[in-house]
Amino acid sequence: TESLTVLGLESSCDDTAAAVVRLVDGTEPMILSSVVHGQTDLHSAFGGVVPEIAARAHAEKLDVSVRQALEQAGVGLDKLDAVAVTAGPGLIGGVMSGVMCAKGIAAATGLPLIGVNHLAGHALTPRLTDRVGYPYLMLLVSGGHCQYLIVRGPQAFTRLGGTIDDAPGEAFDKTARLLGLPQPGGPSVEAEGRLGDPKRFRFPRPLLDRPDCNLSFSGLKTALMRMRDQLVAEQRGLTRQDRADLCAGFQAAVVDTLAEKTRRAIAIYLEDNPATPMLAVAGGVAANAAIRSALEKVCGETGIGFVAPPLRLCTDNAAMIAYAGIELFLTGARDGMTLSARPRWPL
Ligand code: KG4
Ligand code: ZN
Repeated sequence: TESLTVLGLESSCDDTAAAVVRLVDGTEPMILSSVVHGQTDLHSAFGGVVPEIAARAHAEKLDVSVRQALEQAGVGLDKLDAVAVTAGPGLIGGVMSGVMCAKGIAAATGLPLIGVNHLAGHALTPRLTDRVGYPYLMLLVSGGHCQYLIVRGPQAFTRLGGTIDDAPGEAFDKTARLLGLPQPGGPSVEAEGRLGDPKRFRFPRPLLDRPDCNLSFSGLKTALMRMRDQLVAEQRGLTRQDRADLCAGFQAAVVDTLAEKTRRAIAIYLEDNPATPMLAVAGGVAANAAIRSALEKVCGETGIGFVAPPLRLCTDNAAMIAYAGIELFLTGARDGMTLSARPRWPL
């Protein structure tokens, strides 16, 4: 079998990214280049991603990202087999910029165009990095997403459950904001919590009384706000130790909840009798050492494998979009110039 080389574009949130991925001999994926231009600086003053600013930055950075990705890969447009682009879900302005850029390239070159679901990109990443075989269990945990999926194929996903309110990364970010710690909140709350006592404050363990795989994180934020306000009222401020204990208690609640719901998701997944059972994680929250080791422990207990791709491929990037494009291409999927941007697009 021949090689397949695909250019991928990603612009659905606050990273503008382009990448070239090649499937060598029909089996071995290789990342030839992966360029990511973040926008954190542009949004930091606003305490969140501002859609208008994001869309403008994507429109400005897409062309240069594509040029850099092709250059770094040492591949000309004439050596590509297809162009893959995130067509949703995400902020509509950014997704439209990406789709328009990809259409321009496809129109100029005659290359096939493939619209990719951003979540499918994350969900297929363990196949790009570790060639994990179908079906595997996937936990997507980022600032915007939290769900359990059984991944059966590039277009075959079974959703077992997910958050009914905030995503865990969002909860970390809000916790940091409430305690005056820097953004993104995940790394700062994790660092602060290392010095803390997770048992001093009693955080709830939401939805553990329900047998399903759904999660809820917004109650943790409310609990934290109450505890903080009480401390402020009693002692007119927070000490360093208070902050550390609050972070540790909050994180312990997230860890316990994710561990228990993962146990349940694994039980459902194992009913399929997969030959080589695997849990894979993706998303920025997978960077959290306590969460990672709790998941690894659950996998050990239940006798299944654990895969966590390198962080730069866990967070938003275009290599995952190019790779998903390759798998879709192989199933015969092609989109025409009618491909449209979809702000909402469940798997
Ligand atoms: O996947 P990602 O880069 O972007 C999307 O949300 O799509 O994830 C970013 C999220 C942020 O909410 C950030 O606070 C969180 O991942 N995060 C962490 C850690 N590092 C990043 N959360 C917990 N612990 C961490 N060490
Ligand atoms: Zn993402």
